[in-house]
Amino acid sequence: MKKRIAVLPGDGIGKEVTKGAINVLQAVGERFGHQFEFTYGSIGGGAIDAHGTPLPEETIEVCKKSDAVLLGAVGGPKWETLPGHLRPEKGLLRIRKELNLYANLRPVSYYSSTAATSPLRQEVIEGADMLVVRELTGGLYFGKPSERSTAENGEDSVVDTLFYKKSEMERVIRLAFQLAEKRDKKVTSVDKANVLESSRMWRETAEEIAKEHPAVKLEHMLVDNAAMQLIRNPKQFDVLVTENLFGDILSDEASVLTGSLGMLPSASISENGPYLYEPIHGSAPDIEGKNIANPIAMILSAAMMLRTSFNLDKEAAAVENAVKQVLESGSKTSDIALPGQKTIGTAEMIEEIKATILDNQAVM
Ligand code: NAD
Ligand code: IPM
Ligand code: MN
Repeated sequence: MKKRIAVLPGDGIGKEVTKGAINVLQAVGERFGHQFEFTYGSIGGGAIDAHGTPLPEETIEVCKKSDAVLLGAVGGPKWETLPGHLRPEKGLLRIRKELNLYANLRPVSYYSSTAATSPLRQEVIEGADMLVVRELTGGLYFGKPSERSTAENGEDSVVDTLFYKKSEMERVIRLAFQLAEKRDKKVTSVDKANVLESSRMWRETAEEIAKEHPAVKLEHMLVDNAAMQLIRNPKQFDVLVTENLFGDILSDEASVLTGSLGMLPSASISENGPYLYEPIHGSAPDIEGKNIANPIAMILSAAMMLRTSFNLDKEAAAVENAVKQVLESGSKTSDIALPGQKTIGTAEMIEEIKATILDNQAVM
């Protein structure tokens, strides 16, 4: 089978970890007899430097013509002082909008081999398994107006707008329920309905969609409480669905349950594809170029792509098992190692996972 994949490495460690996904997909292709064709596109700070825009039209075209998109990460100090519409992050927001990626799925899984580096005690996180479903193309990220102005008395003021259409809430909440049907049949809808009108509509919508899914239990939780409950008792969550900004914040928080932000993959879903796959972490300028970034979030994003876009279940499982096997063998990047433990670099981790995928071929 031949699949066309658009690859947007982006900035900072985005470029380093993207190599991991490509290497792993090549190993999967070799082992299972698939052909993956990679077309590279620029996005973020690198695209600003080369083309004067964080998302060139050509990149959008490449993505639209592909079966799936892989994205590293964008951003960095070099571009932080640019005006809002010219920042690297704007490129990421625009590609999400152009491809209509209305839902971002962020699975948080427990790994016994990295549990020791979680800030939480083992018994609190053991067996935790949740899916954060984040609305991705609405809310404060896209509402208009979003601008500064100066009043007659000379004082600066600013506005960002939280805008949602009912249909935008319905489709992402419906998807969360459909996914919960295949899991533990519980949806926690997170909002701030005690304050925000948008959250009151979100809560009503969740109640309506729940009627379509009688086998799934719906629970509402205020976002401040949810931030606390994630740390106090993460095992209570199955599917957590929430609007764009709350989902951004809560998923970074949830990522440390697995031991590190460098472990969490994601899939962004639209109605007709192509879907986009990216780690939830950013370009990590503090560790860029040091060969210490954990490539696993990106590699697991490629596994999500195999399963979700291409229906290649056994290939996705081969990648996930290789990751587990390598971690269990004791190989760790520094973010998931205990103090004093020996660590390996980004390139070595990629090589070990790739070799494990190919080695396992011999025993099958
Ligand atoms: P970040 O996610 O880049 O990093 C946060 C912390 O986690 C840093 O200490 C970093 O070293 C560490 N970290 C992140 N990924 C890691 C990995 N794979 N392995 C080991 N450690 C890892 O967030 P930030 O520092 O707040 O943001 C840096 C830049 O990235 C900003 O420009 C921001 O806008 C951008 N960003 C981009 C995306 C994206 O492209 N999807 C996501 C988040 C942040
Ligand atoms: C993420 C990032 C982005 C977001 C930024 C870089 C625009 O934090 O993918 O989680 O907030 O969506
Ligand atoms: Mn984020």
